[in-house]
Amino acid sequence: MRYELDKVDYADARVLEVNRLPGRSYFVPYPDRAAADAVALERRRYGSPLVRCLSGEWDFRFYPRPAELPDELDTDAVAWGRVTVPGCWQFQGYDRPFYVNLRYQFPFDPPRIPTTEPVGPVFSLMGEGSVGPRVYHPVDEYNFVGVYRTIFELSPHEMASGHIVSFLGVASCIDLYCNGRRVGYAEGSHNTAEFNLTPFQRVGENELLVVVRRWCTGSYLECQDMFRNNGIFRDVLLREVTLSSVWDVSTTVRREERAGRVRYRLCVGVTLLDDGEARVTLRGHGLERTAAASTHDRRVELSFDGLDVREWTAETPALYDLYVETASECVRCRVGFREVRVDGRRLLVNGRPVKLHGVNHHDTTPEAGYAMTPAQIERDALLCKRHNIDTIRTSHYPPDPLLLELCDELGVYVIDEADLETHGALVGRVPPSHGRITRDARWRERYLDRADRLFERDKLHPCVIMWSLGNESGGGCNADAMYELLRSRSGLPVHYEGAIHSRRRAYDVGSEMYPTVERVISVGEGRSSVRRLNDRPYVLCEYAHAMGVGPGGIEDYWRQIYAHEALAGGCVWEMADHAVLHEGGGYTYGGDHGEWEHDGNFCCDGIFYPDRTPSTGARVVRHAYRPLRVRHVGGDFFMVFNATSFTPGDAFTLRFEWSDGGVAELVCDVDPLRQQSLLVRPTAQGTADEGEGLRRNRMRWVTVTVTRRETGEEVSREQMALTEMAPLGAGPLERRAAFPEGCEVGEKGLVLPGVMAPAAEPLLLTRVSTDNDRDLVGNRPLEEFYDARREVVGVVRGEGSVVVTTRLVLPRHQFLCVTTYEAVAAGVLVTARLHCERGRGDLPRFGMCYRLDPSWDEVDYLGRNGESYRDMCEQAQVARVSCRVGDMTEPNIRPQESGNRMDCQYVRLSDGERRVQITAVSRPFELGVKPYSDEELRGMLHREDEVRTGTYLTVQAFQMGIGTGSCGPATRPEYRFDCREDYELSYLVSWE
Ligand code: GAL
Repeated sequence: MRYELDKVDYADARVLEVNRLPGRSYFVPYPDRAAADAVALERRRYGSPLVRCLSGEWDFRFYPRPAELPDELDTDAVAWGRVTVPGCWQFQGYDRPFYVNLRYQFPFDPPRIPTTEPVGPVFSLMGEGSVGPRVYHPVDEYNFVGVYRTIFELSPHEMASGHIVSFLGVASCIDLYCNGRRVGYAEGSHNTAEFNLTPFQRVGENELLVVVRRWCTGSYLECQDMFRNNGIFRDVLLREVTLSSVWDVSTTVRREERAGRVRYRLCVGVTLLDDGEARVTLRGHGLERTAAASTHDRRVELSFDGLDVREWTAETPALYDLYVETASECVRCRVGFREVRVDGRRLLVNGRPVKLHGVNHHDTTPEAGYAMTPAQIERDALLCKRHNIDTIRTSHYPPDPLLLELCDELGVYVIDEADLETHGALVGRVPPSHGRITRDARWRERYLDRADRLFERDKLHPCVIMWSLGNESGGGCNADAMYELLRSRSGLPVHYEGAIHSRRRAYDVGSEMYPTVERVISVGEGRSSVRRLNDRPYVLCEYAHAMGVGPGGIEDYWRQIYAHEALAGGCVWEMADHAVLHEGGGYTYGGDHGEWEHDGNFCCDGIFYPDRTPSTGARVVRHAYRPLRVRHVGGDFFMVFNATSFTPGDAFTLRFEWSDGGVAELVCDVDPLRQQSLLVRPTAQGTADEGEGLRRNRMRWVTVTVTRRETGEEVSREQMALTEMAPLGAGPLERRAAFPEGCEVGEKGLVLPGVMAPAAEPLLLTRVSTDNDRDLVGNRPLEEFYDARREVVGVVRGEGSVVVTTRLVLPRHQFLCVTTYEAVAAGVLVTARLHCERGRGDLPRFGMCYRLDPSWDEVDYLGRNGESYRDMCEQAQVARVSCRVGDMTEPNIRPQESGNRMDCQYVRLSDGERRVQITAVSRPFELGVKPYSDEELRGMLHREDEVRTGTYLTVQAFQMGIGTGSCGPATRPEYRFDCREDYELSYLVSWE
């Protein structure tokens, strides 16, 4: 079949769409109620006899030179390849993955985009980890074209109906053709685009041709921080329609509270394809109401008054069925009764203040880019629930509609964001501002289109509690226009962080990203220098940047959020690492695919790894978002704070377990957002947690496990120390006149011949930089401490003692370390004292490292039972742990320092026969056990570089906290160590 291809519209700023149908609610019609009820949520799109999902294998032809795309395409003459729809062509063997954060891939010259010519020189203000103007000359880069073809059959019977085709997501635009003729054009990658195929359809085979361009005019509005993928990446649905088909459904719920009694009014708007009768039934939780009427001008409004219903919240996701029935169809919608309102400085859901325990969510998978299967979408929603996350911001576009359906069902609030970001417009002006397009009224129509299609598609969902105008596009008249549009159609508050960079400052809620805790406090107290943040609720649309190890310091935000009414919570950045999975299991990130510009591993910043295995970040977030918070007040008194808004404390069981074996289980009926004190004493005896060392130390703690009574599911575990740690008793530290058999002390330190020796770098002053140890432009201050020059100043031998004095010389610092090795009854007592001779600022770490053979693989320790650093340790509890060396580091996509264990009392390594033990002496130590040395780790870029070369045991007085410096505040002062202080590290080494 021959097609005359349009080669103009995608690059013509005057064309936004051609024949695209107006926006409407997403739903899947069924022939009748029974059929609508029979299909599970994730299958709904695939289970209706009225809707055919066209996803599957399609023909595909890639044009790396757009000039080679013929004016007239003969589909019979094309040498087609095959790809899977939905999919992204960069993940299917065409072009290659390309990761950039805040830059366009083409020269910034709005509204012009490259057409057939090569992409010319691209001016940029930052790249490869540094800031500064630069010009790139990309080679072989074009506005690539992908042509998709599929064939579907229509029987004579089906020809009696019309057909509508829906594209749920195509990047960057769609030129649609059917049976030899052009159907229309649409852009807006993450917005649904629908076309009427009825005039084109015929009996038998129907050919659908979709021309997809890498970029279109709309690409100026899609400069999000993500892999820039292309293709038909969400399902394509073909819907059969008759004149009595439902075109659109809308609902408005009004909450009325009088004398403590809550009643709802539900208005249902139904639009049919032609005038006819519509019947609406509301059913659920023992309620059933029906109303029916004929449409007028295809539309009718029906309402139900005085509804005494269960209210929907993320904590109580009560849903009702709403059946919209016509002569030929039944549309089943899920309705939730809830009211979201801003009241002064409070964000209220159903009249009560809420704190959003949120995360930013991108549609991303390592196998298919933007394409997610229903099972993957469901997994993400469930992972949120299991990690106490009750809010998703759909950064930075509307998600697959299934995610919203799941959030309705499971109970997750959604900040639903328009597909909009113009970050790369920064290069357009001096001083840089990304608001240039947002302030240009010529773009107004495109902005309004994105707000319109966001609202129209998603307006039925109770989970949506706020609309968001997009991300990082500055502020200006076009954002204002979007706001007006949304407010004219919806009662929900509108969020947009970008307003902070304009005179408007904020829409219905104040919003910022990555502020310091101090700044958050000033807003909470109403004394921000930005006045418009002081009179409305405040949301952290992004905070706690979880790149690599981290985020650190999240608890410092939550203490403030609970303390201030105006602080409505926030969304961690972000849910999952973006990376590309390869055969053999390796992952790649920016720069690994030959991108001529890229932002490295800045896309690996999730609390879950790309395959959704939780990283420590997920544990940190789950802990910070726990519904009940317990504090030890003193003696047998504890304070319980209910951090929820709607769930009474007695929905949970608290189990207290003391380290010496005492157990108590109880329920506390503390009200939401209130605290209550409790007297708790052990009522039973369980197994004691403590080992010999602890009994000597008389150390005690209590661990509180909180479970949901209804399901038995554990929601949190927290631990409180009841005593300070006392030094070891004198017994094993009794001095001896000579070192025991099996050890030598030389100028490098303690050697256990054949077992353990100081590592090549035995004294550690820094760690291998984590991602959060770098700043936004890529500086890595901790690296200043790499490669200290060691000079042994003196070795003094006494009776059963050796004192080694070492000087460590660095470009800006100089330290003296005096290490004393003393023979004692139990082994060798090591005491290292560090003194700064020159330099200032922070000392990242103070520790000593030993190397053992890789056969030393068994690790036993008493300390925090997972990765933990000063500002991210409470998610891990002190416990006795037995594991392997491989379990002691974390599989970050870019290897870096990881796996630290705080508060360790002892560690034992074993090769199955022999044992070496390090025991804390004056205070607990921080432990690291790695399968490679720090020097080796420094050179690693990917997981597969993590080759085992030994067992490296690190005993540390401290490591500084992690912070979120990669895109936010660095480690707070309270988790840092001033290098001008003197520090001491002491431990006992014993072996058998
Ligand atoms: C924010 C942006 C996100 C992401 C993040 C850093 O500024 O909104 O899209 O880029 O920084 O990972």
